[in-house]
Amino acid sequence: MITIAAVGDVHLDEAMRGQYRERLAGLPDEADALLLAGDLTKHGTVDEGRVVAEEFRDLGVPVIAVLGNHDHHSDAQKEITELMRGEGITVLEGEGTVVDCPGGRLGVAGVKGFGGGFAGKCATEFGERETKDFVRHGREAAEALGEALRGLDADLLVGLTHYAPVKETLTGEPPEIFPFLGNYLLAEALDDSGAALGVHGHAHAGTECGVTAGGVRVRNVALPVLRRPYALYRLDGAGGG
Ligand SMILES: [Fe+2]
Ligand SMILES: [Fe+2]
Repeated sequence: MITIAAVGDVHLDEAMRGQYRERLAGLPDEADALLLAGDLTKHGTVDEGRVVAEEFRDLGVPVIAVLGNHDHHSDAQKEITELMRGEGITVLEGEGTVVDCPGGRLGVAGVKGFGGGFAGKCATEFGERETKDFVRHGREAAEALGEALRGLDADLLVGLTHYAPVKETLTGEPPEIFPFLGNYLLAEALDDSGAALGVHGHAHAGTECGVTAGGVRVRNVALPVLRRPYALYRLDGAGGG
């Protein structure tokens, strides 16, 4: 049995320094690792990135993160990534990592992901350069997630993204913006790699629980959805928990 804690969309800024950390004191007793599903800052500034790095360092469990669209807003994603890595946080973008837990080896692959929409109602790589670029970015992110998942040697695999792999966890958001909230190709990457769980954020008005067409559990851990400091998910290799 492996237990992960997860939260996204904490949207920290300098005024919130020290506040989130207080709520994480119990983590080592509850979870084997903490996953952060992006939108860790409000506007993606370096100063906000520093707050994130300080807030999630030395928590007594491995912390594994992806960035979100807000973390890209000031074009300082590289600096934010470096600040977080400097404090021992694993930041993934098209990569994976394995954590040795008492209950087995937990493999986590992560990408920010992107929009694009869902099967039957998605954008295609056709027409204007800008449309093709948009769709291609989503496809390449999903391909990177699949490749990273398949490259992991672990007992249980988790796909960590900011954008949603399924529309079920967007329930509560206006359907008109679904193409900007997620991409079904991320779900295909989870299904094709035999992942036990997909974790995402981004959809603040969405729903916590969903499942891919292939039966992989998906959890929207955006803080406004969870309304608790983090969610705990137990993974036993048979899809339970
Ligand atoms: Fe967000
Ligand atoms: Fe977001």
